[in-house]
Parts: sequence; structure tokens; C-alpha cells
Amino acid sequence: MHMSASLYETDEIVDQYLLFHYGSAGEILPFSFGPRDALDFPARCVADYLPEDGEAAGFRGLDLGCAVGRSAFEMTRRCHEVVAIDYSHKFIEAAKTVQRDGGIDYRRTDEGDLRTSLRATLPAGVHPGRVAFRQGDAQNLPEDLGDFDFVLAANLIDRLENPLTCLRRLPGLVRSGGRLVITSPYTWLAEFTPRSAWLGGKQTANGTVSTKDALIEFLDGAFDLRESRDMPLLIREHARKYQWSVAEATVWQRR
Ligand SMILES: C[S@@+](CC[C@H](N)C(=O)[O-])C[C@H]1O[C@@H](n2cnc3c(N)ncnc32)[C@H](O)[C@@H]1O
Repeated sequence: MHMSASLYETDEIVDQYLLFHYGSAGEILPFSFGPRDALDFPARCVADYLPEDGEAAGFRGLDLGCAVGRSAFEMTRRCHEVVAIDYSHKFIEAAKTVQRDGGIDYRRTDEGDLRTSLRATLPAGVHPGRVAFRQGDAQNLPEDLGDFDFVLAANLIDRLENPLTCLRRLPGLVRSGGRLVITSPYTWLAEFTPRSAWLGGKQTANGTVSTKDALIEFLDGAFDLRESRDMPLLIREHARKYQWSVAEATVWQRR
């Protein structure tokens, strides 16, 4: 395991992600001002890109790097079956608790040692029984996953030790005509991804390489790029500190 993968095994990060995925606007951003359009990122990753006729068509969905599970549950509104994979045992355990009990208690960090007890609950209208959560490595996925109509990799690629290994597997996971959505703020950090494995954000002998250019280079051939979109997201660290990021979503159709 790469050193920084253990970040996602701490209780503090599990709590932070439960708030990010399931918290209400009031629980996350209780001010009369602030970036409200950055709320509900895990739900938007699905609602904005998964075709509405999926349910009728019997879609299968895959959520790579699912964390505590919100996007996977959202996929069940339009998919008959969803596979959701994350490397963190604690994230998968929390997602499975939400699935089994309809919710999970957690603590929101307010200030110093001060915490507020909250409950994350399943959103109305989802079908939790349709999700199979699995602990696993997006760079070394099981061979028996089958193929999918919709694959989401939300803010995953810049957390992998070798993102290219994951990208190479994608053509085999998406059915012809199916969709792949990759979102990322392209936050390349040597703690997660050795510099030599960064997809972009680097200077080479031939000039600068952006991550989007690199994605086009690697995915072109198997996929057509249909759309790129800026997607704000807000992660609350404590009552008076937030991470506001703008991920780029690229939407790909399998040839
Ligand atoms: C920045 S979080 C994004 C989580 C979620 N998709 C979201 O948008 O909220 C990155 C996620 O990738 C997971 N992850 C990191 N390395 C992974 C790997 N090798 N395989 C699968 N998941 C991994 C982490 O445990 C974490 O849940």
C-alpha cells in the first residue's frame, strides 16, 4: 500500500466524507452566503451524466473510488445493478452500514475537539439493495466484473499510485455506446502519485502537458470525448474552514 492510501483509513476522514456525501446544506454550510452550487457533488456526478432511461434499459453502473457510497446509491435510481469499489476498508464499511441500516451516526468537527453528532441517511428514492460494495484496488480490478453502461471515477485519478494502469482497464469495462465520467481537480501530489506517473500538470521536453490533454491521448481510440464541464465541490474541514475545489468532468462515450 502506498503511504498516503492510509489517509482514507482514519475516522476523521470517514466523518468528513460522510458529511460531504450525505450532509444537508444547513449541516455543511450554515451561513447566509457561500458557494451553494458546490454542494451535492456526489449526487451531481450521477444526475448530470447518467441517462434517465437507464432503468428501463437495465443499466449496470460502476463507481470506482466510491468512498462512503453516495454516488453509488444515486446510480440505483437509473441502474438495475451497481458495483462500487474503494481501496479504503473503513469507507466501504461505512457505505455498507448505510446500505444495511439506512443510515450511520458520525461526528462533525466544529472547532478544536468540539464535535456535533449527526446522522447520515440514505436519500429517498434510491434502491440500496442494488449496490454491491467491494473493497478493492482500481489499479488491479478483479477480472470478473463484467462490463457496464455507466462508469464513474470521481476525484480518483490523482489519488492513484499509477493512474495509467487504471485508465488502461477502462475500455474493457465500458460497453459499446456506454459512458465514462472522469472528474478530477487534477491535484497531483507526490505523496499519492510519484511525479513520474502524473498524467499531466508537468513540463516535458516537448512542452507542457495538461491532464486533460493526457486523458485525450490515452482514451482516444476507445472513447469519444463528448463533453467537459467545471464542477465545483465543497468539503467542510471544520466550522470555519472548507476545501472549495473545481473538478473538471470529462464525459466519454465508448466506441
Ligand atoms: C478524493 S476521494 C473521492 C471519493 C469519491 N469518489 C468522491 O467523489 O467523493 C478518493 C477516493 O479514492 C479512493 N482510492 C484511493 N486509491 C484507490 C485505489 N487504488 N483503488 C480504489 N480506490 C482508491 C480513496 O479511498 C477515496 O475514497
